[in-house]
Amino acid sequence: MMEVFISKTYDEMSRKAAREVADVLNTKPNAVIGMATGSSPLGLYKELVRMYQEDGLDFSQVTTFNLDEYVGLKAHHEQSYHYFMHENFFKHVNIAPENIYIPSGTTNNYQSFCQWYEQRIEHYGGIDIQILGIGSDGHIAFNEPGSSLSSRTRLKTLAKQTIDDNARFFENREEVPIYAITMGVGTILEARKLVLVANGDKKADAVAQAVEGPVTSMITASALQLHPDTKVFLDDPAASKLQMREYYEWIERMKPGAPKR
Ligand code: F6R
Repeated sequence: MMEVFISKTYDEMSRKAAREVADVLNTKPNAVIGMATGSSPLGLYKELVRMYQEDGLDFSQVTTFNLDEYVGLKAHHEQSYHYFMHENFFKHVNIAPENIYIPSGTTNNYQSFCQWYEQRIEHYGGIDIQILGIGSDGHIAFNEPGSSLSSRTRLKTLAKQTIDDNARFFENREEVPIYAITMGVGTILEARKLVLVANGDKKADAVAQAVEGPVTSMITASALQLHPDTKVFLDDPAASKLQMREYYEWIERMKPGAPKR
């Protein structure tokens, strides 16, 4: 079963999720971290930056691999995931630029780029902890409904729902790219630990289907049920459609070391 942690606020959710990343770094300073973009992990990144500044969390030996990038956007485009990562995380911590990997949105050979990306992940010994968000259509990375659950890094056509959801970041809907390069569900499932963050009521249905529904390629996040170490961090509205919510809260309270009521 996925472990579900429900927080009252987005900030609390983000802090708990960031602690998972910090725990990995504290035991393995040269860990490989899988990064996600989008609004969901912004608080998590903010907390990691705070830990770097105030608690001495060290990224100097870390390598990162991002999940995805839009096709057609140059790295300095304000909506590219290269730009997002630089602005929201990389420029604030002591990570070595040569240790940062993000899929290219501008390669002229997507197929060989994707193979190379997979080989780089393998070369570094695989991903130790993968950060994930979830789309309102249940996608992880840009593995849209119908994606094979054993898919690898590849070029993907975005679903209309995703284009609509992401239009909020662009001047108008026509500017949202139609294609992306994305790690596959199979690639993601090979990471040693998975941490998914989701907030807001727009995510409530997708979260309920991913956590409590059947494993199906129609909700690619449901494949995380197959992984032995998935932690799902939710705020209150994102958890609102979970049937077993009380049970998850009970498990968290009863964990060894949890403060007793
Ligand atoms: C982005 C990614 C996507 C997002 C998802 C949710 O790297 O992998 O799967 O996590 O689309 O996006 P937000 O967080 O903006 O709601």
